Formats: sequence, structure tokens, C-alpha cells
Amino acid sequence: MAYEEIHQGIYYVGDATTKNGLDCNAYLLIDGNDAILFDPGSVLEFEQIVQNIRELIPLERINYMVLHHQDPDVCSNVHLFEELGLHFNVVTSWRTMTLVQYYGIQSPYYLLEEHAYQLTLESGRKLQFIQTPYLHFPGAFVTYDPQTKSLLSSDLFGAFSFNRTLYADETYLGKMLTFHEHYMPSNTVLRPVMDTLLSYDIQMIMPQHGSVIKDDVKSYIHVLRTLECGSLLSPVRKNLKENGGFLAIFNDVFQRYQSLYEPTEVMVIFKEVPGLNFDENGVMISYSGNPEEVWDEIFKTIERNKGMIWVSVVEPFVRTLSATYDIGLPEIMKSLIESAQIENQRLMEMNVTLEQTIKSVNEKLVRCPITGLYNETFLKSLLVEELDREDWRDIGALATVGIDNFSKYKWTYGVEEEQSVLRNIAYMLKGAFGENAVFRMETADFALYLKSLEKSDIIEKLDSVRMAIEKSRLFLGDISVSLGVTFNNELNLDDATYEMTAENYLERALNRLRVAKLRGQSYLVYETDAADERKNPNSVLIVDYDQTNLEVLKNFIGELDVEVHIATDGFEALEKAEKYVPSIIITEVNMPKMDGFVLKEELAAHSHTKDIEVVFLSYIKDEILVRRANELGVMHYLRKPYLLAELLGIVKRQIRG
Ligand SMILES: [Fe+2]
Ligand SMILES: [Fe+2]
Repeated sequence: MAYEEIHQGIYYVGDATTKNGLDCNAYLLIDGNDAILFDPGSVLEFEQIVQNIRELIPLERINYMVLHHQDPDVCSNVHLFEELGLHFNVVTSWRTMTLVQYYGIQSPYYLLEEHAYQLTLESGRKLQFIQTPYLHFPGAFVTYDPQTKSLLSSDLFGAFSFNRTLYADETYLGKMLTFHEHYMPSNTVLRPVMDTLLSYDIQMIMPQHGSVIKDDVKSYIHVLRTLECGSLLSPVRKNLKENGGFLAIFNDVFQRYQSLYEPTEVMVIFKEVPGLNFDENGVMISYSGNPEEVWDEIFKTIERNKGMIWVSVVEPFVRTLSATYDIGLPEIMKSLIESAQIENQRLMEMNVTLEQTIKSVNEKLVRCPITGLYNETFLKSLLVEELDREDWRDIGALATVGIDNFSKYKWTYGVEEEQSVLRNIAYMLKGAFGENAVFRMETADFALYLKSLEKSDIIEKLDSVRMAIEKSRLFLGDISVSLGVTFNNELNLDDATYEMTAENYLERALNRLRVAKLRGQSYLVYETDAADERKNPNSVLIVDYDQTNLEVLKNFIGELDVEVHIATDGFEALEKAEKYVPSIIITEVNMPKMDGFVLKEELAAHSHTKDIEVVFLSYIKDEILVRRANELGVMHYLRKPYLLAELLGIVKRQIRG
């Protein structure tokens, strides 16, 4: 189904093909430069909704999404719009905001509480938001548009609709009541909200389920005003005999079914019920036998012909009837609903677990869980695809971004601050280069794939971001980044496969990042000669808190004609390992803050330090420690005092190898 214009500039863009009786109605309001999408819907209708909107306007024009509450049918697809690169504000109440964040929504929020429950559009048109607490969520609200006198009512005035029409007809009332009996908690909360709505001039109601109401709007408000929903909480008692006896009850159920489903189909089934008598016009005139047995038979017959869904749909209504008139629940509802509930629960739980697993596996494959950015694997496959396109090769660049001294920073400020730094830098990079240009890397911290920008623009933009990060006050400590850039026209297309070309391309950017880091902090390197890019093969890092041991080793190893770096604790060691990428690290095991084992694990977590050979030295050495070291890939574990010749032998082998 395509879009439908409901009112000047307001379009139905939902998808009415869901088969469970609950269609998700999304509406789009277009006003000059503003395009507001109301209750964008669930993941199931996403593609259809996108298609409907695209027939009207480019998707990118959507600048607001109004989420009336947090249910999955209302807004579980918002993150999919974000993934398309759209920029919009999420208009909602703070209570809803706290929950919808769990869908992974990352767009900025426009909170009603901060804007006097109004949204003024560029044209001056004002949308008003009316709170509808507990209908059916404490933070729920609806939207009133004074210009068209329409109410975008979310779940209120919604309906179960197995045979839905775009506009409400005379059968709509029963469908609407059934929905409210299921989802609205009580008349106590419904009534005051309906009283409020009666004070507005409402000509049209656009609910999130069911049909648009455009005739006789006030009568629907009045009906809900007196609806006894949620009567399980406080049933209203009535005398059965005075209210028409069992025949009236049977008729109520019969009529309810006729409003929900095709009336002739309902008639055929009811005529099958033993004990019910109809005249030639199809009017139920009497029953024979024990009324409680007939009551049971009605639902048994329905279940036999149509299955449990038909029974479940009227369940709240039947429960209300049985509580009001003090008659037992039909047998089948007691037993089958209970077992169906258990089975449903089991299936739902299975489904949820399965969905979560699939989602988390998929996400892990391509996205960083902290920043939400696509990861290195994703970038590499993107580069391979890009290489296939001829026009790609003249302009554009790949930049790698490394946070300076980040290991030390992490150890000083802790994991939460580390993650917040990553998120903030990701945010700044996205702001400067767009959502889809930024990637989270294992070999650096970030990468930027900058399409169709000239070299001078790229350098200028990168430099300004580098300075913005350095000056930013978002971080607890000092944060700066270094950048290594390579340009598409430097690509070497002689490699055997595109995979190798992409790999080498990335490697070149990383080498330049390494050069930038060697120069100090906050450097941008985009041109290097071969000598610059060479890894330093002859360097050794010695880590020990014991100064004497450090000095001794430094002197002896220095004689081997290698560059020697020293560190007095684990995080300084990490810092230097990242910066110099030594061929071998000789470290004391037993150190404060970060011991040798943790240091080795940290080195292993980054691909450019993971292959560095590590040698353990310690006064303590036993079988368990040695086995643990071996499991981490540490093959040499020397007990202090060690034989200098043995240690130098290991170092020599490593630097020559
Ligand atoms: Fe809802
Ligand atoms: Fe809903």
C-alpha cells in the first residue's frame, strides 16, 4: 500500500499488511521545510514505510520524529532510519526517552518537558502535545495540530482490525473497544483524559492502530469516556436478570464478534452452537438447556472453527462480562488460555533469546559496541568494494586516528572515562566528516574514509578536527590525537587481489600514524619517505621498577647495537610499546598497578603489539606461573638472579630473527 493524504499535508505512510490485527499506522506531516514523522513503527514495516515516504519526499528531509510512547510497534525501527544516515530530532517525553534509548537510538532528543509541550515549526505552525498519563504508559502523550484540528492519538482510539479500512465505518466501535479493553488500564485514568480532549476542537483522529476517525469524532470520545476497561481491577457488579439474563450476554458476545470479523462468517459459526436459536433474519431469539453449558459451547465452537486467537481476542470483554454478572468464565478460556499463555510465554522467550543472539552476533561482526561505529573488518570489505569502481581512484583518502598516550590515560582515569573518550571523539569525527565516514579500528583507534574530497580540503579539515579535539573540554584529562593519512592516488594497483591492495593501503596509513606518534603528540602526517615508514627492527624495551636492574640491562643490551627504551611500570611500558613497537620486551612480572601478565594481555589485545616477543623476569617462579605465562604466549621466564648470557642470547636471537 502506498501513502494516502489524510488532511492538507498529513499523510498516512504506514503499512497495513500485518496479519495479527495490529497494523502500525505511521503519519507524516509536511510543512514547508519541516517533515515530521509520527510513531515511525516497528522493524517489520520499515521497508514499506520508507518506500511510502520516498514517494512523497526524500527521506533526508525528515527532521523530527515524534514518539508518543516506547512500544516496539511505535518506534523500534528508529535506529534503522539512523543507520540510513538521517539526521533528526526525537520528540518525546523524558520517561519515554529513558526507555527508547534501549533501542539504540542515538539522535538528539527534543524533550516536551523542556519545551512547554509545544513544537513550533519554521512556518510558525505550532503543534501541541497533550499528556495522556497511564494510557497506556505513564509518560504517554498525543499530538494536537490546531491548524487542521486533528489529533494524532497513538494507541488511544486505536483498534484491533483484522479487516481494516483506512477510515472508520460503523463497525469500528467494537474493534476500538476491544483494543482498549486489552491495553488501557482503567476508566479512572481514561475518563479525565477524555474530558480534556472534549475541550479541544477535534475534527479528525489519527490513531496508531485501526482507522482514521473523521465523522462524529465527539461520540468516539464520549464512548471511551465511559468505557469500563481494566475492570479486572475493580469490577462493576450488575444483576444478570435485570439486565436481560444470559440471552443478553450471548448477544453481546455475538455482536462483538460481528464487529470484529466478517458478520456472515460469525453467523455461520454461532448457528452451529448447540442450544442457541435464531430466527430467519439471523436474530438470536432464545437458548435452550442449561445457560452455563451454552456459554461454554459458544467458545468451544468458536475454538473448533477458528482457533484460539478468536477466543483470545474477546477475552478481556468476556472476563468483564463474567465479573460484572458474576458468572463463571467459559471452560475453554480457563483451561486453554492458561496453557496457551504458558506456551506463548515459552515461545516468546525462545524468540527473544534467538533474536538477541542473532542481533548480537551480527552487531559484533560489524559494529563496535562502545561507539556504535562500523569496525575494521567492515572498513576492509568496504575498501575492497570501492576498489572495484574506477572513479574512486583519483580523489579521496584514508586517515587513521590514534589517541595519544591512551594506555596511560586509561589506567589513570578508568574504563568509563576511556569509553566516554572514545564516544566523544567518535561523535566529533562524525560531526566533521559524516556518520558513514568514521570507523572504529583495532590497529589504531579510528579510521576515516574520506570520499570525493580534494587533498587540500582533507588536510585542512583533519587539522581542524585535530585541534578541536585538543581544545575540547569534554575529557577529564588531556586528550589529543595523531593522524596518518594516505591518498587514493597513492594506491598501488599491482597487487594480486583487491584484498591485498586494501590491506596495503590501510597499512600505509597506519605507518604514517606511527611516524606521527614518534614525532610527539597531536601530529598529522600525510607524506613520508621510505625510511620514515620502516619499522625500527632493532629496539628493546626493558620494564622494571628496580632502577639498578634497569641500568644493568640497559648497558649490556645497548652494547648489542640496538635502541633501548625503558619503562618503570606497566602502563608506561604499554605506552612505549605502542609508540616504538620494539622487537622484544623484557619485563619484571611482579610490578605494582599492572603486573607482567596483564601487560602481556594488553599487548595481545592490539594487533600491532600482539606479536612482540615478551620475556618474563622475576624472583618468583613456580610451575603454575610458568604455565600461565606459556598460555599467554610467553616462552621465556627467567628467575632472578638470571644468567646474563642466557638473557642476551634470547635478545640476540630475537633481533636477528
Ligand atoms: Fe502501545
Ligand atoms: Fe501501539
